[in-house]
Amino acid sequence: MRLTKNATQILNARYLKKDINGKIVETPNALFRRVAKHISNIEEINRKEWENTFYKVMVNLEFLPNSPTLMNAGLPNGQLSACFVLPVKDSLNSIFTTLKNAALIHQSGGGTGYNFSKLRPKGDVVTSSGGTSSGPIAFMKIYDAATEYVKQGGKRRGANMGILNVEHPDIEDFIKSKSDNVSLRNFNISIGISDRFMRAVQLNNDWELINPRNHTVHKTVRASDIWQTIVEAAWKTGDPGLIFLDTINKANPIPKQGGIQTTNPCGEVPLLDHESCNLGSLNLIKMVKTLDGKWKVDWDKLEQTIATTIRLLDNVISANHYLLPQVKSKTTKNRKVGLGVMGWAEMLIMLGLPYASDEAVQLGEKLMAFIQSKSYDASNALAKERGTFPNWNESIYATEKRMRNATCNSIAPTGSISVIANTSYSIEPLYALAYKRVGILENETQMEINPVFLEKMGLLGLWTEELKFEVMKTGSIQQAKSVPKKIRKLFETSLEIPWKWHLLHQRAFQRYTDNAVSKTINLLEKTTKQEISKIYFTAWEYGLKGITIYRNGSKPNQVLQTCNLN
Ligand code: CDP
Repeated sequence: MRLTKNATQILNARYLKKDINGKIVETPNALFRRVAKHISNIEEINRKEWENTFYKVMVNLEFLPNSPTLMNAGLPNGQLSACFVLPVKDSLNSIFTTLKNAALIHQSGGGTGYNFSKLRPKGDVVTSSGGTSSGPIAFMKIYDAATEYVKQGGKRRGANMGILNVEHPDIEDFIKSKSDNVSLRNFNISIGISDRFMRAVQLNNDWELINPRNHTVHKTVRASDIWQTIVEAAWKTGDPGLIFLDTINKANPIPKQGGIQTTNPCGEVPLLDHESCNLGSLNLIKMVKTLDGKWKVDWDKLEQTIATTIRLLDNVISANHYLLPQVKSKTTKNRKVGLGVMGWAEMLIMLGLPYASDEAVQLGEKLMAFIQSKSYDASNALAKERGTFPNWNESIYATEKRMRNATCNSIAPTGSISVIANTSYSIEPLYALAYKRVGILENETQMEINPVFLEKMGLLGLWTEELKFEVMKTGSIQQAKSVPKKIRKLFETSLEIPWKWHLLHQRAFQRYTDNAVSKTINLLEKTTKQEISKIYFTAWEYGLKGITIYRNGSKPNQVLQTCNLN
């Protein structure tokens, strides 16, 4: 198998099995064999064949499961899920029980999401002690500090999602809680938004902040003032994002099990309290074939790979070691999985379609509709073989079709696995044509030139020393007049693509994703607050489940950096 230097570096640092002295004791091939063996162990017939099938999709880098599965499958007490949601109730007992459980989950490589809206506001009465409450933000800071010190067994730092609903009395402080670019480093924060709030903003109505302890009105403010505070904070640092709770709950597959209040850390999986989900992503650049000298989508291979990998992900649920009995119970009753994609931008380049084009958006929709439909078929086939998920009778599928899994699809960020697979992140456009990835490992990784770009330039006979210099310096070819306009258009990078197209791609994929889509709308530094307001509003109108923006330069450390792209 061929791995890039960066892939090898990441695998060595975090994924390959080590002995007690920290010496690496397996090869990348052996890693995939270990994972395939462990998750095929639950097969009753043709176990070895399944092991080989699972091994092949991984070793060919056609699909990778989320990091905890790669890191932990086959190890003692291997915890395999990336995504968790834990409850936070208005008691010290609940707050600190969840903190302990989150620490255990982080240690295993998983991330946790919570909604803090049940906590009484800062300064509210505490009857038992006669004192006053510290409020949700203070407790989040404790979670943040704990996360900092539990370095996930040396593998990766934990990630958290913190949500506060827009009617909570502490909402204004929460909106600004990351504005200093120092606090809550280990949290993504989002405002829990209702349709009622969005309409109040539209109509410039009053908005009541409600104390969750006694459900009384704490204060009345203008909805548009809160909106403006959100927009300003997001403009300043990228936080907070929004999560649209009504949109999420309209798509909740098992409403009888309760409402969904939060998502996992990067937003791609709305989950119930104590529920976990494991993810996996198809590598789209491996789902193409040449026909008459041109790249085309290989729909047959895609269909086959979906059937294999939905089964693989369903096996992960059974082969998983659960750290908490409540999580085991919830997760195995709903059996949610999230099959998604990586390499979308590179697939488009291979097909000759610019990201900022109607054709690309239409293909995105067609592709994800296909993935969803074939995932459902695969889950339906598994239900016939293995039985439906135990809560199926209560689910929206009960009258429709038998399903093994309450959800099948999520679009994850693929922050690490796309580096291993050497392709572009998730459904994101290329960030730059030459870049360093910082923040993924302790030390910066090497300067990379995007391989799909390099190949295309080579084929077209356009790769010159001059162009190389330009690309290394700016990460872009938009000013390179030696390159024909049509080719330049194909290689527009994230910040060169107007936000309208980012949102259209997110919508195209969200339409056929039963969980959610993790996407960052990357913006130029000069983006105005009015534009951010428009983006957040459009996200709601488009029926997205959440929205995250990042204005270039608004945080001291970015994960991907070019030398100079601004
Ligand atoms: O590429 P990889 O499988 O490592 O992860 P991802 O697709 O970037 O992120 C998927 C999910 O893994 C996130 O939404 C988090 O729930 C979790 N995660 C985490 O807990 N800690 C991290 N440092 C990165 C991801």
